[in-house]
Amino acid sequence: MAEVHQATCTAPVNIAVIKYWGKRDTRLILPTNDSLSVTLDQDHLRTVTTARADPSFQAGARLWLNGVEDEIKTGGRLDACLIELRRLRAEREASDASLPKMSEWGLHLCSENNFPTAAGLASSASGFAALAVTVATLYGLDDILSPSQLSMIARRGSGSACRSVFGGFVAWESGTKEDGSDSLAVPVAERDHWPELDVLICVVNDGKKGTSSTSGMQRTVETSPLLQHRIKHVVPERMAKMREAIAQRDFGAFTALTTADSNDFHACCLDTAPPIFYMNDTSRGIVHLIEEANRARAEEGKEPLAAYTFDAGPNAVLYMRKGEDANTVLRLVQHYFPGADFEDTFNLLGGGAGAPHRGETEPQALPTLPPSFNREVIPVHPVGSVRRLIHTRVGDGPRVLERGLGKESLLKEDGTPVRLQRAKRA
Ligand code: DP6
Repeated sequence: MAEVHQATCTAPVNIAVIKYWGKRDTRLILPTNDSLSVTLDQDHLRTVTTARADPSFQAGARLWLNGVEDEIKTGGRLDACLIELRRLRAEREASDASLPKMSEWGLHLCSENNFPTAAGLASSASGFAALAVTVATLYGLDDILSPSQLSMIARRGSGSACRSVFGGFVAWESGTKEDGSDSLAVPVAERDHWPELDVLICVVNDGKKGTSSTSGMQRTVETSPLLQHRIKHVVPERMAKMREAIAQRDFGAFTALTTADSNDFHACCLDTAPPIFYMNDTSRGIVHLIEEANRARAEEGKEPLAAYTFDAGPNAVLYMRKGEDANTVLRLVQHYFPGADFEDTFNLLGGGAGAPHRGETEPQALPTLPPSFNREVIPVHPVGSVRRLIHTRVGDGPRVLERGLGKESLLKEDGTPVRLQRAKRA
């Protein structure tokens, strides 16, 4: 059989602690401000992508997302990423005549998330990062492109995707050039820099389909005076302080900055005309709860229990310290938000690592908290208000799983997906 030109890679999800909200160039996806994120562990949440180039494939590219074929729109974001990758491959081919002319061949792309879209987690960041890394690996560009250069390609797919090309703590420097050549992701600290940090994602029940981040942020740019203040005065100072908090592993400062930035971002959404509401009653309940626990701890001279942050949806992401604190946060959330499914990744509840807890519907006992903690701060919420809890940690950057056709491949020998699903009718 002829050689199979193929690569399979994975990329992680990232959650910003200083938010990206607003573009100064919508085509090139250039942001109005710097942002900073934490990369989550790919052992728990990831996108896997297989890319194959073959002269027998029809020209252009075909894409399957979670087993369903998706249209690649000419001039769209995915197209922009592929044009750039093909251009770089063609340059390599021009300088080395022995290389196969993959830049002219058709491309099959197959991508799967290991977290259901129904979990309410955005997949565009890990998805476009996986795409950029996989095609770059297939084209042999991974040796000549630095991760920051790769981040500029992922950025053309979705802004936040540029931060998923690194593990640990990552900044997206907005840059000032019109062509976007200085708008890229840079590492701030490795994943192992702050091993005590853990993450709990609270997947919040929400019936309605919200405003997409792409359209929401442009409305904010066009109408919100508060966003202009945020861009000029708030973010620059906060970025510097956040870098310092991470360098010092200062959880108190990290928490104060993370929660302030989440609230500032949602204030800008509220300042948009017409206003955008991403957080719901459950989200606000989580804010009250964590703020009260942090207040009670501060009164005893202790560091905060957790930091919360919310993206363009109602889910809460909580950062906390491993061990006892993580256990306290989990039990607190389970008490006030009964019925959430939870897979005990790190054996917090003692039933064995990975043991599933199928959402106990009775409120669980409260963990030990400082005496001044106000138990009435929020009511116990209706069962299922938080649907699912995902406990994870800081993770590494994209991984190359395999070059060529092997056991990791999402494409069969004939170039069609290993797992196909029937497309939903429109
Ligand atoms: C609230 O990266 O999804 O998650 O660039 O238009 O694709 P596009 O937007 P996207 O926006 C993410 C916004 C955010 C904050 C963040 O991740 O920094």
